[in-house]
Amino acid sequence: MAGGSTDPKAIIQAAGCLACHKLDGQGQTIAPDLTHVGSRRDDESIRKKILDPMSSIAKGYEKLAGIMPKTFGTMMNAAQLEALAQFLAAHK
Ligand code: HEC
Repeated sequence: MAGGSTDPKAIIQAAGCLACHKLDGQGQTIAPDLTHVGSRRDDESIRKKILDPMSSIAKGYEKLAGIMPKTFGTMMNAAQLEALAQFLAAHK
């Protein structure tokens, strides 16, 4: 995915996160805005959420539980997952 790039923006683009989420003013609004997700979750929690979306459901979004794809863990390698989790955790 994304040619193995560890550029978080390239990963987000390739994974299609913004088809559901907003980030820094771009993307859709059906899922929680990730612009300040780092103030709600640390990198560990974000990593877990990406690997296993049903592990913890965002507050107020319980009705949308199960919509987030469960396949990201198989699409990205460990370095990409780490880069993405760190990037989002820094969005305070
Ligand atoms: C098909 C729509 C969809 C896509 C694509 C998607 N998500 Fe989600 N995501 C959701 C929904 C709906 C929720 C809220 C319900 C829940 O927690 O499962 C959510 C919740 C989250 C949360 C928790 C937010 C919070 O405020 O606690 C994070 C973090 C997250 N997604 C990251 C990602 C990342 C990173 C990607 C891309 C790799 C992604 N999502 C792709 C639908 C999606």
